[in-house]
Amino acid sequence: MHDGSAFYDPYSREVFDDPYPVYKSLRDEAPLYRDPSARWWVLSRFDDVWSAVRDYATFSSRLGPDPANLDDNGRKYSIISMDPPRHDRVRSILNRSFTPDRVAAQERQVREIVEGYFDRLEPGTRVDAMTAFAGPIPSDVIGALLDLPAADRPYLRELWDLYLAREEGVFGLPRAAIDASRKISEYISGIIEERRARPGSDLISTVLHAEYRDEHGEVTRLDDHDVLMFCNLLSAAGSETTQKLIGNALAALSEHRDEWRRIVADPSLIPTAVDEALRYDTPSHYIARTTTRDVALHGGVIPAGDWVLLLLGAANRDDREYPDPDAFRADREFDRSVFFGWGRHVCLGQWLARLETQIVLEMMATRFPDFEAGERTRILTSTVRGFDRLELELR
Ligand code: HEM
Repeated sequence: MHDGSAFYDPYSREVFDDPYPVYKSLRDEAPLYRDPSARWWVLSRFDDVWSAVRDYATFSSRLGPDPANLDDNGRKYSIISMDPPRHDRVRSILNRSFTPDRVAAQERQVREIVEGYFDRLEPGTRVDAMTAFAGPIPSDVIGALLDLPAADRPYLRELWDLYLAREEGVFGLPRAAIDASRKISEYISGIIEERRARPGSDLISTVLHAEYRDEHGEVTRLDDHDVLMFCNLLSAAGSETTQKLIGNALAALSEHRDEWRRIVADPSLIPTAVDEALRYDTPSHYIARTTTRDVALHGGVIPAGDWVLLLLGAANRDDREYPDPDAFRADREFDRSVFFGWGRHVCLGQWLARLETQIVLEMMATRFPDFEAGERTRILTSTVRGFDRLELELR
């Protein structure tokens, strides 16, 4: 239980600037931490997070990922806030579109998108990585899968940034986030109507026309609202987190020159280096659940119905799971990981996010092997950690 020494608030400046010392004191001193305002409990050790994500019957997703913006079984956030069996049925509509094989088959298209941005970069110049390629690449990739017009993608990216931005110390959604959410829904609704009239081979058409079996065994389709929420989720989840991963990976590798030089000399390390970047400074710092029964843990009890934050960012640095967790090791091997979650809700787009980031690192290694990261600013968002500006010297 909490002995009063650790203090954790996801909206605080301290956590925003550098969460890792706070995470360590949580893991070591308060593995079951009660927020002083009694909003939620916090689990930070790898084993606890690992057990919770696998036990969906006890740790329910039904009220959604954000205690400040409650859902009800997927009405706002689609599958991310559904519990089985409904979750599994709806997710099954797209499961096959995101398998490792299906994603591997998209490699050429992803590579073309990445190359297009890298062809515009000149050695000997400075660029902001986030606007030059880290931001646009993931939104172009998911934009292509959803077949969103290329000219609209920057507009949508701006809206998602606004939707996820938070104000320091403030619990709840800022006005701009609420407005952005409405505009995203209006935009995606328009596209859905077009696809209803003229279906294509894109994911929006797949979701719109997919048939699945409901709990009574009847063949059914998603209603209009559920189609919209599923497509909203894909467009957001597909771009925000991946752009943060690309930025975080480049910043980490610039600071770990020896590891970067190993990668440049041996690009076969890139896939494990991407997973290590996901562990070392993950974009997705926590996910939320509510308990369906009392849970006894570390000498305390989380009562049924309370919110629990599962700190993926803290679990990733737990020395009980990862030797030398504060070091970046490009060849680290993983028995278990939670940076994409795990269990029923494990990230649908994990193979796509990996592929995009791997190709970016390949391009950097071949075209700008001596790059260096310079000035940077972080963006404060609800759960996603990363930069909105990251200067790179391209060499
Ligand atoms: C580095 C990039 C990414 C990270 C760190 C990330 C992280 C996560 C995490 C932690 C979850 C689990 C949420 C939970 O258990 O409550 C999740 C779920 C999800 N992610 Fe990702 N994600 C990334 C990229 C993507 C991409 C590219 C897509 C889209 C194509 C995507 C689509 C989804 C969807 C649809 C879910 C919900 C799955 C479910 O509830 O069954 N993600 N992601």
